[in-house]
Amino acid sequence: MTEESAHDGPTESTLETDGSGISGDEGVVRRDRFSGGPARSFLSSLAADERIFEADIEIDRAHVIMLAEQDIIGDDVAGQILMALDAIEVDGHASLPDGEDVHEAIETAVIEGIGPDGGKMHTARSRNDEVAACIRYRLREDVLEAIETTLALRESLVEVAAEQTETIMPGYTHLQPAQPTTVAHWALAYEGAVRRDTERLFDAYQRINQSPLGGAAFAGTTFDIDRERTADLLGFDSVVENSMDASSSRDFLLETTQALSTHATTLSGLAEDIIIFANRGFVDLADDYSSTSSIMPQKKNPDTLELVRAVAGDAAGSVQGLTTTLKGLPRAYNRDLQRATTHAWETVDAVTEASEVAAGAVATADWNAETLAAEAGAGFSTATGVADLLAANGLPFRTAHELVAIAAESGADYDAIAAAAEEVLGEPLESVVEPDAVEAALDPAESVASRDSQGGPAPEAVNPQLEAARDALGADEETLEATDDALEAAHQALRSEVNDYV
Ligand code: ARG
Repeated sequence: MTEESAHDGPTESTLETDGSGISGDEGVVRRDRFSGGPARSFLSSLAADERIFEADIEIDRAHVIMLAEQDIIGDDVAGQILMALDAIEVDGHASLPDGEDVHEAIETAVIEGIGPDGGKMHTARSRNDEVAACIRYRLREDVLEAIETTLALRESLVEVAAEQTETIMPGYTHLQPAQPTTVAHWALAYEGAVRRDTERLFDAYQRINQSPLGGAAFAGTTFDIDRERTADLLGFDSVVENSMDASSSRDFLLETTQALSTHATTLSGLAEDIIIFANRGFVDLADDYSSTSSIMPQKKNPDTLELVRAVAGDAAGSVQGLTTTLKGLPRAYNRDLQRATTHAWETVDAVTEASEVAAGAVATADWNAETLAAEAGAGFSTATGVADLLAANGLPFRTAHELVAIAAESGADYDAIAAAAEEVLGEPLESVVEPDAVEAALDPAESVASRDSQGGPAPEAVNPQLEAARDALGADEETLEATDDALEAAHQALRSEVNDYV
């Protein structure tokens, strides 16, 4: 299909026969005047629209069926259009005639296929509500895939936690040794964050999955359309009521990109932790998730996780780009919106991939229990536990803190604590606390075991966290499956409606 034939022949005939008085938007008026000239490729979103090609065909189908059901177009014309759409779908996006965007190109192809009556497809709608519907239709699938990767990551983290409830490791604040903890406690910390990322994405999904179709250019239509019907045919949960809101709002894009960016930020912290742990010999990444050096034969580098870490930067950049594009846009539709969408596609692709890779890297990594245990007490990490012990035996916590701080400077062992007790209290340590209890508090494993407050690292405090993580994961898996099934059911139902016409 040459550009000329796409824009002259069939387009002319649409204009000639389309005397229905339908108020179209300016883009559908494809006179030569509006063919773009030197700015044509700048105007066109056709290449980027490949992403919404399938969505647009489905949306065309639902719209055409609704038009026929409402007696706005005849069943025979609807059948012809639906048949043409099937053929266009089979030929694929690459075979579309030239056009300013996929909506225009598909309409042109329908008209080329069946003649001027193909132009009836665009009755009672605009590309404005059409593109909004396409974006929502495609994005909801992408977000469900992103959600799936968050679930896979949570599963990996839960598995690590289940296997490592007793594996003592150093815990850090300011990246300085702080207090001993366990690998399970660390893994569940990230599981909690990723769980909230999942929740945010499900939340965004609900607002994506609303139908803008029928909003038309922004001001609704004179035709007796049934917006609930198209929403239902496309598996949308509801209709975006106000037609101006429907056709021109993109806060759902912003919300989704933000939720993805938040998840990418979680992933970047997780990646950084593992990079540090790998550096310290605490964990070995599987070869599949490592890279080597082209010059240094001994190298095994955590490149995949470095890339995961970097995706947070891209996602934050997209949020910024999208926010800036949307800021101050007047209602209703403005062409700026064409460039808003790409931020969401880029983000959902990058974050989904990063999430998937993180899940794989976590699931296949090997934890070095011995190295972790040897390092767990480094930097006098049990100091807080000793101070807690002294406080539990009657010392004001502030005095205990001062005493242990002095010991930390002078050996950080039992003798140093005893000397500090003499200095601060003017009496022997044994008069405050049993020596055995101090020795136990100095032991990283005992230290962990004693921190059994709700949510703490002691195995008996971790077990309920693990159980809650499993329950939440199971529930979210069910929600995802039900949501996927609902979309698939809508797709099948639409197909069988189409089959009644073709
Ligand atoms: N390609 C356009 C977009 O992505 C479709 C809508 C064009 N509408 C218009 N009135 N020019 O936003």
